[in-house]
Amino acid sequence: MSFLSLEGITLQWDGQGGVRDINLTLPKGAFLSILGPSGCGKSTLLRLIAGLEHPQAGKIVIDGRDVTALPPAQRNLSMVFQSYALFPHLNVAENVLFGLKVRRIDKVERSTRLAKVLEMTGLTGLEKRKPSELSGGQRQRVALARAAVAQKPLCLMDEPLSNLDAKLRNSVRRDIRALSRKLGLTVVYVTHDQGEAMSLSDKVILMNNGRIEQVGTPTELYNRPATTFAAQFIGEPPMSLINGAALGYDSGCTVGIRPEAVKVVPAGQGDLDVIVDDFEFMGSETQLALTHPAAQGLAAIMNDEARFGLGHKIGVQLPDESRLLFNTVSGETEKEPKQ
Ligand SMILES: Nc1ncnc2c1ncn2[C@@H]1O[C@H](COP(=O)(O)OP(=O)(O)O)[C@@H](O)[C@H]1O
Ligand SMILES: [Mg+2]
Repeated sequence: MSFLSLEGITLQWDGQGGVRDINLTLPKGAFLSILGPSGCGKSTLLRLIAGLEHPQAGKIVIDGRDVTALPPAQRNLSMVFQSYALFPHLNVAENVLFGLKVRRIDKVERSTRLAKVLEMTGLTGLEKRKPSELSGGQRQRVALARAAVAQKPLCLMDEPLSNLDAKLRNSVRRDIRALSRKLGLTVVYVTHDQGEAMSLSDKVILMNNGRIEQVGTPTELYNRPATTFAAQFIGEPPMSLINGAALGYDSGCTVGIRPEAVKVVPAGQGDLDVIVDDFEFMGSETQLALTHPAAQGLAAIMNDEARFGLGHKIGVQLPDESRLLFNTVSGETEKEPKQ
């Protein structure tokens, strides 16, 4: 049975923005990311689940209960936001326990839970510090600890890592995953960062302009993007798109290929001759940015430290089994390859 279900959820302002006709189910204990570019409706959808907004149409069911008309406090969930929202005059322990005091949970229970969540978030020993005496990563961990201590089965997070620098983002990201697993939480996590969504989630909803573009596991979204939008939003560098006519297909067709599947060969020996626009040595691999008149964002990844002259012509081979075909007009995948 699904733990969270959204049926036909719509909320717009003067017929614009927001989200339209969102349908989704999520099992208990799953980690779901809502992914998409800025302004596509991610926060609106999260706020609807939280009860901070109410839909114009549709139904929200949490753990078998229709909560569509209920306020946030009656939805049995916790929330973590981008801004840590800590009380500056309270110390770490007081910030974490604030909600439990309000809910009149007794003192012994409070201190047991506090010790447990501080340990899980790596904050043991910092109980007496004020937020101003903590790093950004530690502050966000306090916000996580505060959500965890509430022991609500559903936790909603809106871009919780976006105020942190790259290195901290990775370590707090691992903490979030570990915490959600240990506590068996069902998590709905908003992010515009495809790498975060792909590495954290059991399931991803990719949104575009208020609608769901594709729902699936990270592997499904990566390997079988349903649209050219999905193909280009996921992966770094993203999937390359090539006009089908350049590869002997129908001209109404676009060929997609992941950069790691592209093979570099001498000019004249591959499927296309391309120009080396840039290359970046990344340590374990080299990324090549290539140009061809029929291609958008053509890239290749090589496992060795090959050096190329900028502006040189090389060949690329695009293995048949790695090609995906999209309808150029609709952007959707073609079921069968058109030759
Ligand atoms: N309260 C509101 N009133 C009017 N428009 C809104 C409101 N909240 C969000 N929007 C619009 O809805 C769209 C989606 O916003 P949002 O959900 O915040 O996007 P995201 O979180 O993906 O960046 C945007 O175009 C935004 O301007
Ligand atoms: Mg947002």
